[in-house]
Amino acid sequence: MSNNLLAGKRGVIFGALDEDSIAWKVAEQCVAQGAKITLTNAPVAMRFGGVQKLGEKLNAEVIPADATSLEDLENLFSKSMEALGGKIDFVLHAIGMSLNVRKNRGYTDLKYDWMQKTFDISAISFHKVMQTLYQMDAMSDWGSIVGLSYIAAQRTFPDYSEMAESKALLESFARSFGYHFAEKNKVRVNTISQSPTMTTAGKGIKGFQEFFDYADKMSPLGNASAEACADYCVLLFSDLSRMVTMQNLYHDGGFSNMGMSPKLIEG
Ligand SMILES: NC(=O)c1ccc[n+]([C@@H]2O[C@H](COP(=O)([O-])OP(=O)(O)OC[C@H]3O[C@@H](n4cnc5c(N)ncnc54)[C@H](O)[C@@H]3O)[C@@H](O)[C@H]2O)c1
Repeated sequence: MSNNLLAGKRGVIFGALDEDSIAWKVAEQCVAQGAKITLTNAPVAMRFGGVQKLGEKLNAEVIPADATSLEDLENLFSKSMEALGGKIDFVLHAIGMSLNVRKNRGYTDLKYDWMQKTFDISAISFHKVMQTLYQMDAMSDWGSIVGLSYIAAQRTFPDYSEMAESKALLESFARSFGYHFAEKNKVRVNTISQSPTMTTAGKGIKGFQEFFDYADKMSPLGNASAEACADYCVLLFSDLSRMVTMQNLYHDGGFSNMGMSPKLIEG
């Protein structure tokens, strides 16, 4: 369904790797709602070819950028403004990766140089994206920036490991930078705290299927899908949410406010 909520808007979408990626669904939905976008991902992700396929389908230029590199980000935003014909109205940061999780290092045996890299990729990159946009004066007035988070920022989910701290940092950057961007030119910054979702990043967490099923039962509306997350992103990129900023918004079928669900006891 399209209501043209993003007609005339220009956006940059990070993190579409394959058809399961949340960013993939967001990109499709933004274009369906009338936006023009550019797509970006890390140069290594280009090898898999998914993002180029999506670019062809959506008629969107694909501009590689390692989100930890300020030089790559400057190049990305100047090329995006050129391709889209003006300043940027919305940005999705959908980037997450933990070296310790990927290499099966438990939380009580973390390698700290890997942890720093994890924080750089999964959280500090969000600050780098915003600082680059801010300094380049690349965001339109009343623009919208969204990052994707997870409730492990507030509560303990042991297998999520150092990604919990990454998400806490990500959410804090949204609040702090949200202040500065609002003062500069009314740009809003929020994070969406999304349900477990079957993606490459999600499936990298130990016991993810069991955990996915648990969260589904615990949430009165069930787990929120990637498609539903795309709809929520469209709302946040649209003018209908222009006074919402510096928030972490739960998009989780009610999970975050549940204590116990009879569904879990019934099996
Ligand atoms: N899947 C879930 O259960 C879930 C739940 C809540 C939040 N999230 C968050 O959603 C976001 C998107 O993840 P996803 O689940 O769609 O998985 P995904 O694996 O499809 O996306 C992660 C993306 O990060 C990109 N990336 C990694 N390193 C990068 C770098 N240095 N520079 C630029 N891009 C880089 C990857 O190439 C990939 O496209 C992440 O922030 C993730 O933590 C996911």
